[in-house]
Amino acid sequence: MFAPHAPLSSRSGGSTVTIPPSPQQPDVPVERAAAAAPVPPSERFAARTSGMVASEIRALFAVASRPEVVSLAGGMPNLAALPLDALSADVGDLVAREGQVALQYGSAQGVPALRAQICEVMREEGIEADPNDVVVTVGSQMALDLVTRLFCDPGDVVLAEGPSYVGALGSFAAYQARVVHVAMDEHGLVPELLEQALRSLAARGVTPKFLYTIPNFHNPAGVTLAVERRQRVLDLCAEYGVGVVEDNPYGLLGFSGTRYPALRSLDRDVIYLGSFSKTFASGLRVGWALVPPAVRDRLVLAAESATLCPPSFTQMVVSRYLAKHDWRAQVKAYTEQYRERRDAMLAALETYLPEGCTWTVPDGGFYVWVTLPEGVDAKAMLPRAVTARVAYASGTGFYADGLGSRQLRLSYCYPTPERITEGVRRLAGVIEAELDVRRTFGLPAAPAPELRRGSHTPSPDTA
Ligand SMILES: Cc1ncc(COP(=O)(O)O)c(C=O)c1O
Repeated sequence: MFAPHAPLSSRSGGSTVTIPPSPQQPDVPVERAAAAAPVPPSERFAARTSGMVASEIRALFAVASRPEVVSLAGGMPNLAALPLDALSADVGDLVAREGQVALQYGSAQGVPALRAQICEVMREEGIEADPNDVVVTVGSQMALDLVTRLFCDPGDVVLAEGPSYVGALGSFAAYQARVVHVAMDEHGLVPELLEQALRSLAARGVTPKFLYTIPNFHNPAGVTLAVERRQRVLDLCAEYGVGVVEDNPYGLLGFSGTRYPALRSLDRDVIYLGSFSKTFASGLRVGWALVPPAVRDRLVLAAESATLCPPSFTQMVVSRYLAKHDWRAQVKAYTEQYRERRDAMLAALETYLPEGCTWTVPDGGFYVWVTLPEGVDAKAMLPRAVTARVAYASGTGFYADGLGSRQLRLSYCYPTPERITEGVRRLAGVIEAELDVRRTFGLPAAPAPELRRGSHTPSPDTA
């Protein structure tokens, strides 16, 4: 055992380095320090891990995946439309012909051929990019995590739509960034509210590190940032010296055929995140970041320290797929499948949900955001919904500040239209039962936290 204040020594490069003893903490009484049970090494976690909590959605996965439960909770793409036979022949051929490269370490920035193809994919949304500015990552989630690692010190502020993507909130929490939400309406982020947030933070001397935004077919809100708001959002961020991180995994999955101009197509300083998870196959875990040259080298270093390099094999699978298959036709097939499911969900919501419920009408992507009648708490209702064999994601998981108790996210991407209809019918029964209990026992409608904060705050609950 070490004497309490004996200097510690360690060997480094043949010479002895002496680490001076740390000064006694003046405010810790010696008796208390001595009495405290020693913390085992396996529990002496870094302070930043205190923000790491299992997402409500992950906790739900086990229950929601029981076959009798209609899960409207997860965001799993439906891969039924993929040409699996053709893909398996491609994968076999890849291993036979290029196995020595595909199964080897590769470049930390990603396979050059794929980076050039990614630029072609981004051109669909108006982005002109140089493959040298693309960094391939293990899903866009990794890109999001690395970008946060590069920019955020503990306590830094990140602006994000309210509600926002749960995986992004997880990364922000892991780096101890503070999230300030900016509300949306049916046309996405509200520029006036963004300006208000920027101004009030500036008045307190705070410059957020970046605005994290999902402009197209938002997860979880289902809304899309109006084209006429896009430049305004960029201008406001520029005026206040705030970076923009645009996360766009759903942009090609629009139902009306409209392709919205990416924020990155309007401003080359935007950090853009893309993914093949929703337009090809999520299990391959291939995503990317398109970054300004000033960010690129650091991002590559951060990626290298996380994974050395992204998997050569899955990158080459994606690259072959893009080269050999009509990927645009595949995206169209996905889009038609999701449109049919969206229609089934909207029709069921209209038919079954009780008076007082409102929901967004997505024009692409995977999600509908539902607001429940006043007094109904989505999280408290969830166990009863699962008992009634339907699952959803409750709204609070999509906020960093406890809002969203009256809201829930329904996803229509995975179940068949028939299952979606049945799931919404079951959900409606559960909501009716909650309302019945309130009526029977005369329970006062508990004001939802967001209303306490001011009912004028726009939220994406357009009927
Ligand atoms: C908005 C958003 N960003 C990022 C991701 C992560 O995607 P990936 O599979 O590329 O890591 C998701 C996945 O659901 C998402 O919805």
